[in-house]
Amino acid sequence: MRKPIIAGNWKMNKTPAEAKALVNELKPLVKEANATVVVCVPAVDIYAVKEAIKGSNIHLGAQNVHFKESGAYTGELSAAMLKEAGVEYVIIGHSERRQYFGETDATVNLRTLAAVKAGLTPIICVGERKEEREAGYTNALVEYQTLIALNGLTEDEIKNVVIAYEPVWAIGTGLTATDEQANETIGVIRAAIARKYGKRVGNAVRIQYGGSMNPKNVKGLMAQPEIDGGLIGGASLKAPDFSQVVNYDK
Ligand code: PGA
Repeated sequence: MRKPIIAGNWKMNKTPAEAKALVNELKPLVKEANATVVVCVPAVDIYAVKEAIKGSNIHLGAQNVHFKESGAYTGELSAAMLKEAGVEYVIIGHSERRQYFGETDATVNLRTLAAVKAGLTPIICVGERKEEREAGYTNALVEYQTLIALNGLTEDEIKNVVIAYEPVWAIGTGLTATDEQANETIGVIRAAIARKYGKRVGNAVRIQYGGSMNPKNVKGLMAQPEIDGGLIGGASLKAPDFSQVVNYDK
């Protein structure tokens, strides 16, 4: 009953001209998709991609959003700016933002609140580092990251957010969590949401897996009952690869 959602995270790749070319190649390849299809693009590509996806089933996403409405925050973008530019989804708290740009669970929460208030759907990233998994902290950590991120949202708002479980050790490394590991940890996240906000909310939230998801491993991961989609980095940069992930059920 949860509609799968496959989102590409282009990271710092593709100029506007390259973005337009990629989306134009992608459109016919994904037009029959059963999943929701999203591309999360660099900010300068938003306009080109918005024009290119018109009339298609591809949805537009951004990769970050600031939590203030406006003001002296050089280099940042507000939720209202993204919304007016045609953005529907926004990645929040990606591990690269946490690792290289000092983002914390507290700011992830503020960004989430700002995004929802502006009518954007956040894709909130959580996940453990290798040493945290080895030390046995995975479940406690992802529960904590998730509940802090959602703090202050209403139950109805929480039903509409997307969470991406991305083990940090699996991002861009070619290592993937096993189907069972990913399913188990996503189950832990869902159970934590259900404990705090009720079963109906827990059952409604879409939780993706992310971390080296590709055409080869997508079927196994998507066959797991808790996994509702994927956040795809490397494999989203080539239309044939991304479309195979999107069409995992064909
Ligand atoms: P990857 O990236 O698919 O290249 O591992 C996933 C992500 O960072 O969202």
